[in-house]
Amino acid sequence: MATTLIDNIGSLVTNDPAWGGLLGLISDAAVVVEERPVPHVVWVGPRADAPDADRRIDAEGRAVLPGFVESHSHLVFAGDRAEEFAARMAGQKYAAGGIRSTLAATRATSDAELSGNVSRLLGEYLAQGTTTVEIKSGYGQSVVDERRSLDVARSQSAFTTLLAAHVTPPEFAGRPDDYVAMVIDEIIPACASLASWIDVFCEQGAFDEDQSRAVLTAGQRAGLGVRVHGNQLNRGPGIQLAVELGAASVDHVCHADDADIEALAASDTVATLLPAADFSTRNKYPDARRLWDAGVTVALGADCNPGTSYTTSMPFVIALAVRELHLTPDEAVWAATAGGARALQRDDIGVLKPGAAADLLMLDAPSHLHLAYRPGVPLVHAVMKSGVLR
Ligand code: NIG
Ligand code: FE
Repeated sequence: MATTLIDNIGSLVTNDPAWGGLLGLISDAAVVVEERPVPHVVWVGPRADAPDADRRIDAEGRAVLPGFVESHSHLVFAGDRAEEFAARMAGQKYAAGGIRSTLAATRATSDAELSGNVSRLLGEYLAQGTTTVEIKSGYGQSVVDERRSLDVARSQSAFTTLLAAHVTPPEFAGRPDDYVAMVIDEIIPACASLASWIDVFCEQGAFDEDQSRAVLTAGQRAGLGVRVHGNQLNRGPGIQLAVELGAASVDHVCHADDADIEALAASDTVATLLPAADFSTRNKYPDARRLWDAGVTVALGADCNPGTSYTTSMPFVIALAVRELHLTPDEAVWAATAGGARALQRDDIGVLKPGAAADLLMLDAPSHLHLAYRPGVPLVHAVMKSGVLR
């Protein structure tokens, strides 16, 4: 069986507590991966103890980390909203309604073009170290268009989420409850087999608490796990609803009070923070320090979408999380790797230990600290995805 030794690693982030500290760091380290039956890690440790392998890759003292895990993206769309961004930077406020312009462009675009856009964006993610990407639907909002959005997403990622309840589409203007009924009676039954999760934009201008609960519980009845867009623009009911329903994660979490943080800390729901969206909307950043210190499991995501966060750069998100959200560099790296994996309820990604996926990245830097320390610099030297080094 073909094995590869990645040798001469200056500093290795394992995220395995067995090695001590939050990141399970090993200096002067090595990793061995095996191709079969599926590419996976078979050994990590100090290089002096490394076993023999069929081939050797010299990391030349670089830092190696688990591949970043993106648990929140909206990649199935057409067009862009650069003008809306420019208007925002000139003082206009972000509102959920902007989603409708992407809706129109997406509906008018062929499957092949949508698919091409998704693969282009996944390529960007990968080049910057992200080896797992969850993809949401949500710019289709009809049975046909949500289904084809998920078909496109599923052909390129194993992690897909049905976000039919993103906003009320124009043909249901002023009748959000009728749209919610269609989501429950028609879209969920038609789409549940193509997704692992149901999601809802629980926010002023999108869906209220009752509408959100109705959609999410219908998704649960169809066998889907729950994710929630909550508390992005206001202190809404999203966090409490996510906890009540045992959601895998509640995402954004920019407006959280003590009761919200307590509820999250006492739950298994991950708080997924998306500071690039707050950066691009001049929104309030989440209080990551309080969340982390209260014992909430925190993940970081890039939230790539054409409205609020047209970036695929996890290194940028890590830099923002350190500078603006007051996470330490170690915490931010953990949240972008192991935290993302928790949000996707997986323990075989975001970590480098025997049995884990052969997904990792190599930095042109001696340690993971440089991700936040050298913002904007393309530090990702190479990425291994499913055992293949690119
Ligand atoms: O995660 N908040 C809702 N969904 C996206 C934005 C969608 C859009 O504006 O197109 C987000 O920020
Ligand atoms: Fe989102």
